[in-house]
Amino acid sequence: MTRITVLPHVEICPQGAVIEAEKGQSLCEALLAHDIGIEHACAQSCACTTCHVLVRAGFDALAAADDLEEDMLDKAWGLEACSRLACQVVVADAPLTVEIPRYSINLAREN
Ligand code: FES
Repeated sequence: MTRITVLPHVEICPQGAVIEAEKGQSLCEALLAHDIGIEHACAQSCACTTCHVLVRAGFDALAAADDLEEDMLDKAWGLEACSRLACQVVVADAPLTVEIPRYSINLAREN
């Protein structure tokens, strides 16, 4: 199991959380399995960016994003150098600290 620290998000995870994820599981699956309701509008098929996360620790230990993920990330709200799509991140051995951005492209449009 790999420890994932989720930083507080005002709506999705107000207190923050520390969860244990299975190696090989996607980060999005792990969050959802622990009732952290990250958006995943395209059913985790790398087509929407609503599962955008900022990997604040452990980023360098992850397998690199492929071209499709990189292309999708360019459309994400609040893109940073440590941005990834949670549905494309495969949990490995290294603990991760992730921040869910305040907005996704869906919310940014609505607000
Ligand atoms: S759920 Fe749509 S890109 Fe991850």
